[in-house]
Amino acid sequence: MQNQNSSPIALSEQIADQLPQHIAIIMDGNGRWAKAQGKPRVFGHKNGVTAVRKAISTSARLGIKAVTLFAFSSENWRRPEEEVGLLMELFISVLSTEVKKLHKNNLRLRIIGDKSRFSERLQQKIEHAEKLTETNTGMVINIAANYGGKWDILEATKSIARKVANGELDADALTEELMTDHLTMADLPEVDLMIRTSGECRISNFMLWQMAYAELYFTPEFWPDFNEESLIEAVTWFVNRERRFGCTGEQIKTLMESQ
Ligand code: IPE
Ligand code: IPE
Ligand code: MG
Repeated sequence: MQNQNSSPIALSEQIADQLPQHIAIIMDGNGRWAKAQGKPRVFGHKNGVTAVRKAISTSARLGIKAVTLFAFSSENWRRPEEEVGLLMELFISVLSTEVKKLHKNNLRLRIIGDKSRFSERLQQKIEHAEKLTETNTGMVINIAANYGGKWDILEATKSIARKVANGELDADALTEELMTDHLTMADLPEVDLMIRTSGECRISNFMLWQMAYAELYFTPEFWPDFNEESLIEAVTWFVNRERRFGCTGEQIKTLMESQ
């Protein structure tokens, strides 16, 4: 973030009110981006880090509350051992170099996912980064690593089931809110804009519960090419969507006119 502009992006009041609060991004296409240049896949992952920095600084400048970036899915362990190893190394080195800058910018960093499968060294880096930034009051950045939407729901279900079994909770008293409270990111607004790069139109087991009503934005751009303009384009597209939440378009118009 150091060499990037960190001044807020000026928005009209009307647009500022309609911005997404929580953006989730499936950062896809690193491998194809590298291959198109005759380079190894890891070259794409390294250049993907530059795009991560841009997405974070642009989101913060727009005044977004939370950004969740899908960095490694619970299924990505199926990739060749060498690629997984290089991704883990990259993760460690990026955490080492970026955390101080994030902290200086008052940003809060969290890693969501099953961290137990990571090396001891990586787990320590994660713990340090989360501790250092936990009281910061700016944008929350969640890095989803060894994360799966099904895993998240399963873990929540297990902890609820334990409470029911020991009599702490009545199964009939279970509500959507209570379920949400047991999921990761319970303290954040639900995702309202989900972006996936590289032209793939699937969710790949990302945040399933939290994206129930998200607007889904798919762009053919590969992740390393995704820059400030790309994000602003996605956010502009979002601002122009009519979110209905089950109502009719007419009901929404009447509601907006009455505000
Ligand atoms: C996304 O890019 C990064 C990770 C999943 C770690 P990919 O590595 O999936 O790139 P493609 O989809 O093969 O091009
Ligand atoms: C999804 O990307 C996970 C991340 C971006 C980290 P993949 O490229 O692994 O997804 P699939 O397997 O093609 O759906
Ligand atoms: Mg991919």
